Amino acid sequence: MALKSTNPTTTKSWKKLQVHFETIKSTHLKELFKSNPKRAEELTIKWDDFYVDFSKNRITKETLEALIELANEVDLKDAISKYFDGDIINATEGRAVLHTALRAQENSEVFVDGENVIPEVYEVRQKIKEFTESVVNGNHNGYTGKTMTDIVNIGIGGSDLGPAMVVDSLQFYKNHLNTHFVSNVDGDHYIEVIKNLNPETTLFVIVSKTFTTQETLSNANSIRDWFLKSLPEEAISKHFVAVSTNIESVKTFGIDEDNIFPMKDWVGGRFSLWSAVGLSISLSIGYENFESLLLGAHKMDEHFKTADFNTNIPVISALLTVWYNNFFNAESEAIIPYTQYLNQFATYLQQGIMESNGKYVDRSGHVVGYQTGTIIWGEPGTNSQHAFFQLIHQGTKLIPADFIGFIEPLHGNKDHHDKLMSNYFAQTEALMNGKTEAEVLAEFEGVNLSDEEKQKLLPFKIFEGNKPTTSILIQKLTPESLGKLIAMYEHKIFVQGIIWNIYSYDQFGVELGKQLAKTILKELSNNENSAHHDGSTQNLIDFYKENSK
Ligand code: F6P
Repeated sequence: MALKSTNPTTTKSWKKLQVHFETIKSTHLKELFKSNPKRAEELTIKWDDFYVDFSKNRITKETLEALIELANEVDLKDAISKYFDGDIINATEGRAVLHTALRAQENSEVFVDGENVIPEVYEVRQKIKEFTESVVNGNHNGYTGKTMTDIVNIGIGGSDLGPAMVVDSLQFYKNHLNTHFVSNVDGDHYIEVIKNLNPETTLFVIVSKTFTTQETLSNANSIRDWFLKSLPEEAISKHFVAVSTNIESVKTFGIDEDNIFPMKDWVGGRFSLWSAVGLSISLSIGYENFESLLLGAHKMDEHFKTADFNTNIPVISALLTVWYNNFFNAESEAIIPYTQYLNQFATYLQQGIMESNGKYVDRSGHVVGYQTGTIIWGEPGTNSQHAFFQLIHQGTKLIPADFIGFIEPLHGNKDHHDKLMSNYFAQTEALMNGKTEAEVLAEFEGVNLSDEEKQKLLPFKIFEGNKPTTSILIQKLTPESLGKLIAMYEHKIFVQGIIWNIYSYDQFGVELGKQLAKTILKELSNNENSAHHDGSTQNLIDFYKENSK
């Protein structure tokens, strides 16, 4: 069954939210805390090892009620069932969206075209497990008999970002294998990665759902050529494996059928790390840890599916985005992890969120008359405090931010961890409270400045505050908790798409540039000049050709 199509702005709750917005838009968070001493408790969701505090958001109970009404009016419950049940909710590509099936329990049933997909999911998982164990334990060695030391994942977008982010985030749990990622078609990227690698001890994992992606195929071909300079053709089967839905093209590339890890078209690239696309994760942290990652995601799936909307972390989190995006006109959202391990988390979410919800046509095929996908950005704190926090504190833009922190550090350095987390708490407090004129004047007392100088300086030292943040506090960064966290954002993306009445699971927007690049490539490589470019593009091409060697 297809997803329903409701223009959210025509609902009663949207109108209610518009009226309500007028009453709350200037209210300071400090006042909200003052008027309700129980606010923090009431707006915090404790679930498993997650403590999610929504209270530093510019909402009241009334706001939440109206937002939940909106979710009900667009029939979010029905959409969630369709999502988990394998309905064709990616209607523009005629596909189900079933990354949740990849982490479902073995005894569950999810049907696509009348067939339960779970047995096949588990067959592929078994293949990942056996292969991982044979490489990690030194049973699958290179052509010359040496044990593998390095893994190179060749892929881009969803075939790179998810595995790269997870491997980096879970480096604490890593085994002896060094894992590298090649994604950019920039030849300098793959050359930098392979320059110190020994082909005899390196395993290449080519990941491409379609196996047609220019970047990945170019990198795979160049790396194969490099490999064949040292080892014969027959060595390929020991050193190259692939993950794809396009088995025929993988075989044509020269990879043995046994070395192909299949994936299904109902797994979207940006949601695919749970499938065989996660092979380099499994190789890097071991299959058991990979399984824990999946288990964590499954637990979040269950929470999302079963919790009431008012205690449902992904639902509330998505509704807040709608609130800021469509009522406060906030354009971006920051993701600030207080752990260096999640260094790549915002980059990963950029694809997940922006490729999914960067759409201007609704599910009825009409141009929307409201804002959809937000701009996602972020870097770990405390580094980002010394980079862009000034703008969040005193700039002119409203930037809701998710603060993600862990109670236990992995290496146990309590002194550093307390410093790190004191910054996390302090920043959310400062963003909310700001600093008033009276507070600045009090600070000036005893400072060796004239009254006139103090008055001059005063406006620059005031912070308005009232900057919304959500505090996500998790016990410890483990494969399981990371699985929960990623799945939380996946479901948030889904809910946003349902409310905005868009199709979140296609990505036609990335096609146009790819098509044009193909035409231009021909012009660059032979002296062809078939296309009619605008003056700027033509000049750039000509200048490049004249000056490139
Ligand atoms: O960027 C567009 C896109 O199609 C992504 O959605 C996808 O993750 C990426 O390209 C890579 O595609 P593939 O896995 O087919 O090589």
